[in-house]
Amino acid sequence: MQEKHRFTWPHKDLLDVSQLSLDEVNHLLDTGEQFHEINRRPVKKVPTLKGKSVVLFFAEPSTRTKTSFDVAGKRLSADTFALTKSGSSITKGETLKDTALTLQAMNPDVIVIRHWSSGAAQYLAERLDCAIVNAGDGWHAHPTQALLDAFSLRNHWGRSFAGKTVLILGDILHSRVARSNVQLLTKLGASVRLCAPHTLLPAGVHNWPVTVHTSLDQAVQGADAVMCLRLQLERQQAGLLPDLSEYATTYCLTARHMAMANPGALVLHPGPMNRGLEIASELADRPESLVLEQVASGVAVRMAILFLHATRKDGGTK
Ligand code: CP
Repeated sequence: MQEKHRFTWPHKDLLDVSQLSLDEVNHLLDTGEQFHEINRRPVKKVPTLKGKSVVLFFAEPSTRTKTSFDVAGKRLSADTFALTKSGSSITKGETLKDTALTLQAMNPDVIVIRHWSSGAAQYLAERLDCAIVNAGDGWHAHPTQALLDAFSLRNHWGRSFAGKTVLILGDILHSRVARSNVQLLTKLGASVRLCAPHTLLPAGVHNWPVTVHTSLDQAVQGADAVMCLRLQLERQQAGLLPDLSEYATTYCLTARHMAMANPGALVLHPGPMNRGLEIASELADRPESLVLEQVASGVAVRMAILFLHATRKDGGTK
């Protein structure tokens, strides 16, 4: 990687985007740009993190986040080790604390954790010496998703999102992606709208720095990007959505809706997608859909996150 300037990354852990200043967000995304270039080379491997160890501790299912952290670590020449709930002694009743202390005893540089409990990443960060990266905790936060979403939008809009309007659509109530994105998008200067049925809006949402809608036809007008959310059926309590087909009729994003957005408006989805429920299948496959671009961005951004956290004690960004 070319030396641009020295920047000592100040954070031991990445728990949520709220801990990052605008300068730190831009530095992380700029670092991601440099790694994005490596990902397009015929030989996609550099020795930057040779000798560093990264544990991927995923107590909830994941395709994108787990694989992209694994790819990111390997492309930087770190050694990566994966632990899942079903393949671990969590199934025998071992606590989060004992699991984490056991992993720390192997002296990794970074533990990437996904867990069903909000606050699980912070719990580890307060107890372990190595860097903790939150890969999604309960309904609380998914900072690496928000950072890769911003990275994808930045490729189209440039560094400032001032004057841009982003609509986040769907299951806001259960979404850690929405919570982290609201914080990051507003930090980058965008206006954020939320759209969901009343039952899928969190209590207190009117105190968030957003405008709130229940009509998709109204919410989409003048949007520069629409971020669909996965309907988290596994986290739904009975009765929130009595009829999925009615939900799809009212809240599934279609080409008809995008015709009411601003010209050139972009479509995002963090995945996994329920086609025909959250997003029309043909829209997901159209050029304005960034869904697969988001996946590619995820590798670059997670390379930057691993690099900044694994080398922090080595004397800053080189
Ligand atoms: N977007 C996201 O977190 O996807 P995975 O659950 O597949 O990691």
